[in-house]
Amino acid sequence: MKGVLLHGGFGTRLRPLTHTGPKQLIKVAGKPVSQWCLEDLRDAGIKKVAVILGELAPERVIETYGDGSALGIEITYVYQGYPYGLAHAVYITKDFVRDEPFVVYLGDNILVEGIGSYVKRFEESDADAMILLTEVEDPTKFGVAQFDERGRLVKLVEKPRVPPSNYALVGVYMFRPPTIFRAIEKLKPSWRGELEITDAIQKLIDWGYRVDYAIVRGWWKDTGTPDDILEANRLLLDHKIRGAVIRGSVSNGARVEGRVVVDEGAKLLEGCIVRGPAYIGKNTVIGPRTYVGPYTSIGDNCTLEDVEIENSVIMDNVLIEGGIRIFDSIIGSSTIIRRGSARPQGLRMILGENTKVEL
Ligand code: G1P
Repeated sequence: MKGVLLHGGFGTRLRPLTHTGPKQLIKVAGKPVSQWCLEDLRDAGIKKVAVILGELAPERVIETYGDGSALGIEITYVYQGYPYGLAHAVYITKDFVRDEPFVVYLGDNILVEGIGSYVKRFEESDADAMILLTEVEDPTKFGVAQFDERGRLVKLVEKPRVPPSNYALVGVYMFRPPTIFRAIEKLKPSWRGELEITDAIQKLIDWGYRVDYAIVRGWWKDTGTPDDILEANRLLLDHKIRGAVIRGSVSNGARVEGRVVVDEGAKLLEGCIVRGPAYIGKNTVIGPRTYVGPYTSIGDNCTLEDVEIENSVIMDNVLIEGGIRIFDSIIGSSTIIRRGSARPQGLRMILGENTKVEL
């Protein structure tokens, strides 16, 4: 099996975080979202992965993953350029895939239980394709499955106004070439001007090919909005951190409570409290009078002093100091938040486009 990881799109709902890079590189629980996907593919036994790059800072993806060897995989980069849709992104992997079955993984999706069991089931079957489904409250935001009275999959509809069921398509698909490529060749753009992978799979069903489905166990999250990022961070911290892991240093008089990862080079100084589940990134310094509360991930090379923070995601190289309380927040890289003593007192801000500040 080969893997195809989709890493394009503009991530408009995550601006300003996505002005400088693709949404899949936003870190949750200490790793970019798409790294969780790549590790999931690797753990399912897939070593050769094509990463499909969009127009938004593709070089940052290459800088992050390189040839893949650090993750134990072999990455081939394929440029999609303009996002003509998921099916188009899959189509341009034709030369990479050749005649091997393959998994397509949307790089903003996270499945806590991984995909290993589904990949195995597909490999052992004769199915032409396999999709993963999960029950959701509001299916109108997703591709949705329709079944007949015997539970057979008969139809897939992309973002229907009146959903035929509550079963949404998870962003992981398995295919055997060449049928899927033939189906994509026959597609017309949807109402949103894209070649939809959902429509391509519908073609396979219409042509009488065997499309299997599995219902996903455990939670699944597609990380398109700030709330999704915070939720994915909470879920990952909860599931992936099993106990205290101290790779950095904890001074006497610093308190670590519960499941906390203190990564390499990080320092917890006297007079701070870190209460898990939480992740403290490499070379980050948590200073005195600082409380890092549950469900917080702090990136690499950050400094926090005299700060209370909870249920938040802080990216790399961030400085926060001076009696500040932060909760339910996402702070982009290289941000500085500090209370100054200069008069007149008040808020002095240099904020990027689409920033949101609630005081
Ligand atoms: C895509 C698919 C949709 C699927 C979803 C899962 O939607 O088109 O069928 O349910 O991913 O994340 P998009 O993220 O392009 O809106």
